[in-house]
Amino acid sequence: MDTKFKKIESINHSIYFNEEGYDALLKLCAKNNYSKIVIITDDNCSEYCLEFLLEELTTETTIEIIEFDPGEENKTLETCNQVWGALIDVGADRKSLIINLGGGVVTDLGGFVASTYKRGIDFVHIPTSLLAMVDAAIGGKNGVDLNGLKNQIGTITNPKMVIIDISYLSTLPQSQMQSGMAEIYKHGLIANKSYWEDLTDFDKLATMDIEKFIHESITIKNNIIKEDPTETGIRKALNFGHTLGHAIESYCLETPTQKTLLHGQAIAMGMILESYLSWKIGKLSPAEYLEIKTKINHVFDKINFNQNDIELILKYLIHDKKNEYGTIQFALLNGIGKTAINQTVSNDLIQKAFQDYNT
Ligand SMILES: NC(=O)c1ccc[n+]([C@@H]2O[C@H](COP(=O)([O-])OP(=O)(O)OC[C@H]3O[C@@H](n4cnc5c(N)ncnc54)[C@H](O)[C@@H]3O)[C@@H](O)[C@H]2O)c1
Ligand SMILES: [Zn+2]
Repeated sequence: MDTKFKKIESINHSIYFNEEGYDALLKLCAKNNYSKIVIITDDNCSEYCLEFLLEELTTETTIEIIEFDPGEENKTLETCNQVWGALIDVGADRKSLIINLGGGVVTDLGGFVASTYKRGIDFVHIPTSLLAMVDAAIGGKNGVDLNGLKNQIGTITNPKMVIIDISYLSTLPQSQMQSGMAEIYKHGLIANKSYWEDLTDFDKLATMDIEKFIHESITIKNNIIKEDPTETGIRKALNFGHTLGHAIESYCLETPTQKTLLHGQAIAMGMILESYLSWKIGKLSPAEYLEIKTKINHVFDKINFNQNDIELILKYLIHDKKNEYGTIQFALLNGIGKTAINQTVSNDLIQKAFQDYNT
């Protein structure tokens, strides 16, 4: 058994690493005597990850597979309808277990489907993308998009366990690896300055163990969600870069002339913009802002938006789910490694952030 990385205790469940996770999963199945195991996955993960999981799932319980088309554009209620229908077709009941095998789209949608099917059945996440390992599968939030707006429908329901196995990453496209890195950088920026420094020492980074980052990032996110499971306070820190990042992501998703961005690409830009806001409200030094901008731009391609795009992105902001009492609430940085939540800024400053990004 690989015990290099210790399991992490989350709310009512554990996050396991490697073989220890599959062992725990088999024990869970034996203990609960599930009527069926249903694996929900997308076509890519079915091709690249499913066989590996099936080899680990040495159980007598009947296993059914439900697949849907990959991509954020399918993280919708229409796909949920298909999956709920397929669950009925395969005879899944209240005593069945769902395993969500895939990236954040699968864990978000599969978690929502499981938490609502027959008023909620057990589910397990096995994230296969870097982003899902360090973020989407951690924290119990799940859900789908509505009319192109991100994560408008969902629940907070915890899985029975999460299994992290980095061998799935061997088939993940490089662009998706990079997308996941955005959340890892975010964890450093909001919670741990020396982690951020390690991550942005690019020579050192190339020689470092990715599993170590994953463990560190999950620990950071998990500590925050354990303190504030329902997002009344400190959990909002995880939204750093996401208020503008989500607006950018939604705008690109909904605008046929724009190239659809990966979540991490939008968040990388959002983090630069929101670091600018942090600087301008006096919570980040100019040197820190410049450092963040330079280092994130070193990793992620710049995105070009004209003034018209910016106006339209700002319209998306008002739909943001963190918009409370009619004002846009930001989670900003309070120096590198700390956050200031519930911050409001003027529209004019947001415009200036985009202008500075373009320079
Ligand atoms: N619930 C949360 O707290 C939370 C947090 C962050 C992000 N999210 C959500 O996560 C989603 C993004 O997740 P994502 O970046 O994983 O996207 P994704 O699920 O679309 O996966 C990215 C692509 O990689 C493919 N893929 C995944 N694993 C693979 C593997 N091992 N080999 C080959 N291909 C593989 C997928 O099929 C897909 O095409 C967004 O919808 C976002 O809103 C949720
Ligand atoms: Zn994110």
